[in-house]
Amino acid sequence: MEKKTILFVDDEPNILSGLKRMLRSMRKTMNFQFAENGPAALEVMASENVDVVISDMRMPGMDGAALLTTIQEQYPHAIRIMLTGQADDDSIMRTVGVVHQFLAKPADPDILKQVILRASALQDLMADERLKNLISSIDTLPSLPETYARLQQVLKDPDSGLGDVAKIIEQDLAMSAKVLQLVNSAFFGLYKHIESPFRAVNLLGLDTIKALVLGVGVFTEMKSPAGKAFNVNELWSHSMATAAFAKKIALTESDDKEMIDNAFISGLLHDVGKLLLFSRMPEKYEQTVIEAGETLCTLEKAEHRVFGACHGDIGGYLIGLWGLPGQVVESITFHHRLESYPDISFCPPVIVHAADYIYYKLNPTGGIGAPPQLNEPVLEQIGILDHVETWVDLCREIQQQGEEDDG
Ligand SMILES: [Fe+2]
Ligand SMILES: [Fe+2]
Repeated sequence: MEKKTILFVDDEPNILSGLKRMLRSMRKTMNFQFAENGPAALEVMASENVDVVISDMRMPGMDGAALLTTIQEQYPHAIRIMLTGQADDDSIMRTVGVVHQFLAKPADPDILKQVILRASALQDLMADERLKNLISSIDTLPSLPETYARLQQVLKDPDSGLGDVAKIIEQDLAMSAKVLQLVNSAFFGLYKHIESPFRAVNLLGLDTIKALVLGVGVFTEMKSPAGKAFNVNELWSHSMATAAFAKKIALTESDDKEMIDNAFISGLLHDVGKLLLFSRMPEKYEQTVIEAGETLCTLEKAEHRVFGACHGDIGGYLIGLWGLPGQVVESITFHHRLESYPDISFCPPVIVHAADYIYYKLNPTGGIGAPPQLNEPVLEQIGILDHVETWVDLCREIQQQGEEDDG
């Protein structure tokens, strides 16, 4: 595999030499470049293919925000990470659309190494440069119009509190993904797992959410959520149900809290790639959906034919760029091809795969093209194939309960 190139930009020579020392052990597998200011960084970008840029925010002349904005425009495939101090709240607000991940300064060596390793591994996941460029340039995904309107209303109402806001956000795929991205940034000093979008909203606090939504416009509204063949409302209910099913399956088999939480978030976000494709290329995606229906092949196969990757790969790449936990990224990426996932054990990718399968078993008319098949060999190998029947019953109960609650 080709060596990845990581570029560090900082105006303080001491910090750069500290980084050089810190990263010495990784030099065999990676190529590190260092630049003392924005223009020098752009020279490096012009002379070689840089995979990941990690820039300081405060620099004389061109600051980190201006540098990463230019890089986003000229070299969209590069993963953009910003190092920020506690006093940089404003600049964080200014750059949420440009930066994939924020890191607290001074960087903790272990976290920094982990972030670099994950970011460069991600670059290998997606072979197609055009898709890579498209996904890296995405700063936000569109929300359902009703949800978007309701959130605006609640935020402007002085009587509503953080709980009201959190309830709305956790019911929207795009908003959930965005708050999880922000909270997972080490900047918030929370480089640990976050159990849910609801909790993420609480950690950010009402003022930050207000500034992000009303000031920066971090959420956007989907203009036409229902196409002829593809309907985002259906994607929304499928995602909510898959999240609930995945959590139930995880709870039934394990008491590992982190895994249970990751199963829920993974279920919620597993099909985020569909939202991305539909919102960026509506006509082409509709055509793909129609083709899957007509030829009765799975949607993933049809997507592969048209885009060279399926919604799992595409969604996983985006959520990886946004710095969400590895288990979540892997669940999204591998939910339709468990056989390629290297870890054969009971884990969120397996759980989400099963939850997705169970959803279409319980809702046979809800799918596109051929329904997903259960990967029996993998489940057999883990020794849980005979548990599936119980899971189906449990999920059916959840679904019926939901229908009763709805009226
Ligand atoms: Fe899927
Ligand atoms: Fe799905």
